[in-house]
Formats: sequence, C-alpha cells, structure tokens
Amino acid sequence: MQEPVYKRVILKISGEALAGQQGTGLDLCTVDLIARQIRDVRHLGVEIAIVVGGGNIWRGTQGSERGMDRPTSDNMGMLATVINALAMQDALERSGMQTRLLTAIEMKEVAEPYIRRKAVRHLEKGRVIILASGTGNPYFSTDTTAALRAAEIEADVILMAKKGTDGVYNADPNLDPAAVKYATLDYLDILKRQLKVMDATATSLCMDNSIPLIVFDIGVSGNIQRAVMGEPIGTYVGRDEGA
Ligand code: GTP
Repeated sequence: MQEPVYKRVILKISGEALAGQQGTGLDLCTVDLIARQIRDVRHLGVEIAIVVGGGNIWRGTQGSERGMDRPTSDNMGMLATVINALAMQDALERSGMQTRLLTAIEMKEVAEPYIRRKAVRHLEKGRVIILASGTGNPYFSTDTTAALRAAEIEADVILMAKKGTDGVYNADPNLDPAAVKYATLDYLDILKRQLKVMDATATSLCMDNSIPLIVFDIGVSGNIQRAVMGEPIGTYVGRDEGA
C-alpha cells in the first residue's frame, strides 16, 4: 500500500471553514465532515496537530478597524479560536479519535496549557492535538501560529485548509474569470506579489525554517488525505531550488 508522504502535519483550519454555508458561527455538520476527513488521515498513521482560526466568530482586525484597542480585539479573536477548538475536539472524539486540546492562553479549567514537549508526546501516542488561542499574543495571526508550531514540533508540512478556494491564484477568481491558479510558488513570490495566502510574518517564518505549505480546499471530501499522500492538489509553496 502507498505510504503517506508526510508523517507529521500541521492542519491549519480557518474559522470560515467551520461556518458552513451560513458564513459565520459554527456549523456542526461541517465540523463533523472535517472530523471524519481527519480520522481517515489519522488511520494512515499520520500525526496531526490542528491549528484553528477564529474568523467565523471574531477577527482581531474587525475591532481595530472600528477604533477598538488592537490587543483587546486580538484577545477576543484568540478566545474565539478556543470555541472552535472545543467544537473540533468534540467532533473528533465522537468520530473515535483520541485528542488533546492545548491552549497558549492558560485556562486550566477548559484545556491543558500548551507545552511543546507535551504536545510532541501526545502526537507520538497517536493523539490528535488541537492548538487553540493562537500564539497567546496580540498582533500575531493564527497563520503565524501554524508556522511557529510547525517549526517547534518539527512538522513536515502545513496543510492550509481553505473554504471554497482550491489554491493560490494570480487574481481573485471570484472577481476575475481569467485568474490562473499557481501549482507551485516560492515563499518570496508571496511576499513580493503580496499574494493573500498568509501574512508576511507567517510566510517569513515558514521560509526561514523551510516549512512547505499546501493550500487547498477542505470543502472537497478526501482532500486532506490527497494532500498527505502527495497528490498534486491546490498550490504547493516551498523553496524554489532553481531561484
Ligand atoms: P500522558 O499520561 O502523559 O500520556 O498524557 P495524558 O494527557 O493522558 O495525561 P494527563 O494526566 O496529563 O491528562 C489527562 C486528561 O486531563 C487529558 O484529557 C488532558 O487533556 C487533561 N488535562 C491535563 N492537564 C490539564 C489541564 O491543565 N487542564 C485541563 N482542563 N485538562 C487537563
């Protein structure tokens, strides 16, 4: 049988991907569908650490754009990721997975604190870990969290799960029918062309630590599995050896 190409992955799930058709809030059917995709990948022996976003509930920039204190707004965003993480944990456990929820902001009554060595040990024991509340610091996105945790736990790849976007395009495909999808990109392409894949902090962290990314549509059933098996889906971002 074919072996997965990646043994330890960070799965970055945007908050929007958990909202389903309604666009905001949590759609539990969608969360269940994602949990089943994750279960299938876990059954292949892949170690999975999930980083969840919170944009379906609250986005840090949402408040600061309207005059809110930025750290306060970011704290609200980090707490939003905890709500998503609890829903994800519940769905994963109902689908038969063993999980551990770790938070960067300490809230011991709800989840265990994020400790790198504990996180790695949980993965080695076959538990799916869910990493909530971002980096625990304002001004950093959950994309940066994914990059940081990938470096810390030595993940082989970041799987950037998007909703309704099957990769990175040279223009917005919803607005420009001539938009072309990139099959591969270098980190510097994202920075130079200001492509909306992830913010500059997250991109630089991935580049400095040579962590590849695969940007793909999580709405298509089986896509997480396709990504870990090395099938060419979405857009692969890595170091362009020829550059
Ligand atoms: P090992 O025994 O080291 O393999 O890991 P374990 O996670 O099974 O052991 P532990 O006794 O640390 O945890 C048992 C359960 O308590 C797990 O579901 C943990 O997620 C949970 N847990 C551990 N620490 C905390 C904490 O600080 N707060 C909360 N809310 N739960 C915790």
